[in-house]
Amino acid sequence: MYRMIHLESLIPETLPGVSLYVRHGEKYVMYKGSSHSFTCSDKKRLLDSNVKTLYVKSHQISKYNQYVESNLSILMNDEEMEPLERQHVLYQTSVNYVHEIFDRPAVAVKESFDRCRHLMQHILNDVLNADGVMTALCGLVDHNTYTYVHSVHVATYSISLHTRLFELERDELLDVGIGSLFHDYGKVYTPKQLLEKPGKLTASEFLELKQHPSDGYQALKDLEIFSPVSLGIVKHHHEKENGCGYPDGLTSFEIARSSKITAIADVFSALTTNRSYRAAMTKEEALEIMFGEMAGSFDLEYLEVFKKTIS
Ligand SMILES: [Fe+2]
Ligand SMILES: [Fe+2]
Repeated sequence: MYRMIHLESLIPETLPGVSLYVRHGEKYVMYKGSSHSFTCSDKKRLLDSNVKTLYVKSHQISKYNQYVESNLSILMNDEEMEPLERQHVLYQTSVNYVHEIFDRPAVAVKESFDRCRHLMQHILNDVLNADGVMTALCGLVDHNTYTYVHSVHVATYSISLHTRLFELERDELLDVGIGSLFHDYGKVYTPKQLLEKPGKLTASEFLELKQHPSDGYQALKDLEIFSPVSLGIVKHHHEKENGCGYPDGLTSFEIARSSKITAIADVFSALTTNRSYRAAMTKEEALEIMFGEMAGSFDLEYLEVFKKTIS
């Protein structure tokens, strides 16, 4: 298995022992073995051939991820890089992090929690300071990594909407971002074939899927590192204003504002992302459904502000 990485995430002469591959059609060809350093001329050659994406084998991805994360401050302040390129590096790094978390047992979450906070600080900076966050997020389209891409979308949209609606302290925003990034963590306990099923789920399959908020909440709560705000988001992102959501069937005034916001971000991300069984909707189409067919699900006031946030 190969994982996509962004060429701009590599600082020449610094990459530690990771082999790099390029893709030719369906084939992956080694570009640089792990014992060779990645040089300035390598980077120039690739850029000259318009290659902006490289691949790393999945057993080396954690090493690569930690390398990029430790260089993020440098990369995010690199004036020579286009702002959009910088954002792509940040969001792709976040997707890779979530992928790593979903691939490993719960204890990995605990071990890597500092990495999570660190990444979220960068996402926060980006949301608070940069334009074009939405454009950067749209670049993250990959069927095979849907859950990870979706998690990063939801974290970013949630932080944006919170910022618009309330004057939150940075720490609170961080908790919102972390909770949203992990909102679907419970899906690690959902059978893969069910998550990837192209058609409609049967009633019993749907019941099984509906376990993910409670499962995620319980697993993350047991780690004793997540704040109540983050945990609340994990547990209640499928609650609806009209009381028809799950797991607790809460109604409007019983649902925390952070969960209401994540619910909006969650559905919007799901509708506007490509899936194996349907193409992504435009943001206008998604909003039409959220205001129309799905009326009663969301806090209308928040949804109105969200509409302005993304347009
Ligand atoms: Fe969910
Ligand atoms: Fe979700």
